[in-house]
Amino acid sequence: MRLDVLTIFPEYLEPLRHALLGKAIEQGILSVGVHDLRRWATDVHKSVDDTPYGGGPGMVMKPGVWGPALDDVAAGTASGEDLTSSLPHVDKPRHDELAGVDKQAYGGGEDSDLPLLIVPTPAGKPFTQEDAQAWSNEEHIVFACGRYEGIDQRVVDDAAQRYRVREVSIGDYVLIGGEVAVLVIAEAIVRLIPGVLGNRRSHEEDSFSDGLLEGPSYTKPRSWRGLDVPEVLFSGNHAKVDRWRRDQALLRTQAVRPELLADVELSTADRKVLGLD
Ligand code: ADE
Repeated sequence: MRLDVLTIFPEYLEPLRHALLGKAIEQGILSVGVHDLRRWATDVHKSVDDTPYGGGPGMVMKPGVWGPALDDVAAGTASGEDLTSSLPHVDKPRHDELAGVDKQAYGGGEDSDLPLLIVPTPAGKPFTQEDAQAWSNEEHIVFACGRYEGIDQRVVDDAAQRYRVREVSIGDYVLIGGEVAVLVIAEAIVRLIPGVLGNRRSHEEDSFSDGLLEGPSYTKPRSWRGLDVPEVLFSGNHAKVDRWRRDQALLRTQAVRPELLADVELSTADRKVLGLD
């Protein structure tokens, strides 16, 4: 997968070089280009924003800068260094790594050869695990980080000629700009690329994958500060353990995010645990 990020704060994207994403870069599963938007600014001050038509506070990012930047990135002619991994991971596989996982299972992306353009904005559609799953099959994703009061709307409208455009929000709060949202979205996507996380089960059992929040997890020691690991986890009875995990997931979801239960298919046993029958 290829990721390109356009931003006026390239250093903000430094975390993409670390941990799991850095490892994916080293393994050749991922390449990342971070581009300073000011390279496309045309005036001596390298300005990227201007006052809004119609008045009001803040500044709006200029179409004359964004347009050529997005054209160049779509055409693959935006020069600049790719990010290198921060860590020598390659000979240090994760403990849960699976041998033989297909690293580049592309296909299954959306209906066209155009790259995907993701524009993070609090005014966008909520980003979900389902989006992350779908976009983990993309070959080329470009992120456009807006700052200030946003980007001139015509940039997004015009970009639809060269990209499949998605305006997305990572939550109902306002950040200073899109950079942190890009880190969130990129991490959620990249960890789902086959071969990146190693053990497929680790994401098949993620919160949200089955519509439920994940229940609690435990490791050694069996007793810690007077608190014991639930007995059932030592039973060796997989069916019993699975049932217990499902119960915990159901109860946590009911307590914390009850609205999610509306989209979950509940068995008779599930309904009993939730006190619905
Ligand atoms: N930019 C500013 N706030 C944002 C949010 N909540 N989600 C995505 N991008 C943003």
